Amino acid sequence: MKLTILGGGGFRVPLVHRALLGDHAEGRVTRVTLYDVDAGRLAAIGGVLAEQAAGVPDAPEVTATTDLDEALRGADFAFSAIRVGGLAGRAADERVALAEGVLGQETVGAGGIAYGLRTVPVAVSVARRIAEVAPDAWVINFTNPAGLVTEAMSRVLGDRVIGICDSPVGLGRRVARLLGADPDRAFLDYAGLNHLGWLRGVRVDGRDELPRLLADPEALGSFEEGRLFGPEWLRSLGAVPNEYLHYYYFNREAVLAYREARRTRGAYLREQQEAFYGSPSLATWRATLAEREATYMAANREAAGAGERAEEDLEPGGYEQVALALMRAVARDERTTLILNVRNGTTLPVLDADAVVEVPCVVGAGGAHPLSVSPLPDHAVGLVTAVKAAEREVLAAAESGSRQAAVKAFALHPLVDSVSVARRLLDAYVNEHPALGYLA
Ligand code: G6P
Ligand code: MN
Repeated sequence: MKLTILGGGGFRVPLVHRALLGDHAEGRVTRVTLYDVDAGRLAAIGGVLAEQAAGVPDAPEVTATTDLDEALRGADFAFSAIRVGGLAGRAADERVALAEGVLGQETVGAGGIAYGLRTVPVAVSVARRIAEVAPDAWVINFTNPAGLVTEAMSRVLGDRVIGICDSPVGLGRRVARLLGADPDRAFLDYAGLNHLGWLRGVRVDGRDELPRLLADPEALGSFEEGRLFGPEWLRSLGAVPNEYLHYYYFNREAVLAYREARRTRGAYLREQQEAFYGSPSLATWRATLAEREATYMAANREAAGAGERAEEDLEPGGYEQVALALMRAVARDERTTLILNVRNGTTLPVLDADAVVEVPCVVGAGGAHPLSVSPLPDHAVGLVTAVKAAEREVLAAAESGSRQAAVKAFALHPLVDSVSVARRLLDAYVNEHPALGYLA
């Protein structure tokens, strides 16, 4: 099996590699090709992987290239984990929005729209190369904003592209632990869009265990989402929202906390990673990762008085475990259920069939098929349809180069509160990002 990683010089690549090193079964990945536009980053990550593989006899063979077609040729799986504009771009996304007084965040609100506007054209051209050079490959998209980017790629690749995110996994793991349920046997009734979903039930042997958690204020206050949102709000919702909904439900507090922070998350990560890529090694990678995990959503947790992250949540494992489980299920037809970003079909009747949604799917050799979930309550329908409408304007702008569509994308987003702000945001982003030259 050959796996190609697009964005192969990225900081999280050693996590994927580490997961592969633990897979010794028949049909595992034996060849990994790293592709990146930056040869220096490829060399840095290649060195970390070599150190990590030391002493593992059946470690996959790793090669690296800056030639996309060469990377894709013969791939059974392709992971897409690119960051158009790098962390400097992310920092600018955050900064520009915060200067307008609206949320500046990697994937949510104005920042996410800006990130989508510059990523979608690149993701689509990558998808076209895959369709040409490796038409049978399964594509696993990690590139954020993951739901939107997966939808853009699905217009080229159909159901061969599947988007993944670690946040529903983390949420499911925490809730299952609290309920004392085996996470492998519990069905998570989770639905929405990427970074915009709600856990509505946890079914074990046909019985919904979530009401038991919602009725227990002490348990509710003891885990990440409970501390971020407060037990009372979870009970009001009758569901556990994805942690990213903190940016919606406590928008004012989040924006304030972000504006007051010494630097944005992107700016912090940029500095942190410059140091790592300056002298890369497995040891510095590990230390850098630990610091990154410990400070994840720190400003939100501070605004909510949520305290430190729990020990068990610091251990990364979400992304690469989902990706590995997905590859295994497809390659060996081992049927499994995972929460993934796929085309809706008829799963959420408020959206059309081609809208990419984040829902539990059964995965096997034929790909991922969404399972039925409880219908979304009206408040969730409101957010999901509004955000999907904004995403659709991003796709329209990326396809046509229309400024009008790009302004609409910002203006229709529920976290942008004025059309004038939307217009100024677009101007400022176009100014910042060379990749948005197509909208100038
Ligand atoms: C979670 C999300 C990812 C996101 C990441 C940001 O893992 O699911 O989509 O990219 O957080 O973390 P960072 O450390 O980059 O702020
Ligand atoms: Mn995610």
